[in-house]
Amino acid sequence: MRSEARVIEGDNLTVLGALAGELEGAASLVYLDPPFGTGRDFGAYDDRWPDRASLLGMLRPRLSLLHRLLRDDGSILVHVDHRIAHGVAALLDELFGAGDRDPPRGAPAPGFRNEIIWTYGLGGSSSRFYPRKHDVIFWYTKGSSWYFDPPRMAARSIRMRGQDKKQLDVFLGPPQVDDDAPVLADVWDVPAINNMAKERTGYPTQKPLSLLERLVAAHTRPGELVIDPFCGSGTTLVAAQRLGRAALGVDASPEAVRVARERLRTQGAP
Ligand SMILES: C[S@@+](CC[C@H](N)C(=O)[O-])C[C@H]1O[C@@H](n2cnc3c(N)ncnc32)[C@H](O)[C@@H]1O
Repeated sequence: MRSEARVIEGDNLTVLGALAGELEGAASLVYLDPPFGTGRDFGAYDDRWPDRASLLGMLRPRLSLLHRLLRDDGSILVHVDHRIAHGVAALLDELFGAGDRDPPRGAPAPGFRNEIIWTYGLGGSSSRFYPRKHDVIFWYTKGSSWYFDPPRMAARSIRMRGQDKKQLDVFLGPPQVDDDAPVLADVWDVPAINNMAKERTGYPTQKPLSLLERLVAAHTRPGELVIDPFCGSGTTLVAAQRLGRAALGVDASPEAVRVARERLRTQGAP
């Protein structure tokens, strides 16, 4: 099974542009968690932009290149928050297609499939507006047919039905899922990484491994290629490696690349 992971330091447009000949049509999944325009200098990377238009202007040629790197049945997942979600959705509709936003006419149109809401439970409070406690992950497909193995709600395996809890603890490893259990809807409650979590690297804006494992498992088959062009601490790459997928990460920050490589070495095994 192919599960090697590569991390390359540099600007993703330059790095992936140079590899485009080799990677054209190769990726089953592209996941990106780009800068959101928080106005903060995180040290490892600077998220200060003159305005929203310049951030969207940075993303446009990169999304266009990423479209080329996808397989015909591949998917792109774009992780954003309220600051740029509306602008990014318009950009993705233009570059990938309006997909399921369009009224159905015959075969499904390429493009938009879902807007996954990730609620993380932490966040600021406010009495002037609703406290913000979610990110958005846009799912777009390159074509009008796509690979998808929908995540299902955890349920006791058929094998274990009728046995008591103590026996379950003895015989059951990871939670089992029934193939006929209901498909998970598009709102996901996954805790943010807490200060004591083993997976915590200290890299700013690190995303939870369980979130990425769910996405990689749903959108790729074992052995296929996942690309994360803004890979940061390497969460997507670790998820891919643990699930037996090949992974390519790019980040402009030397600190990110160092953390991601170290993490693949220590956390990459299932
Ligand atoms: C929100 S963080 C990603 C965090 C990551 N998902 C994780 O779990 O650790 C965004 C990353 O994009 C990187 N970045 C920003 N602009 C970039 C560019 N043009 N090329 C490559 N990486 C870039 C930053 O260095 C930063 O690590």
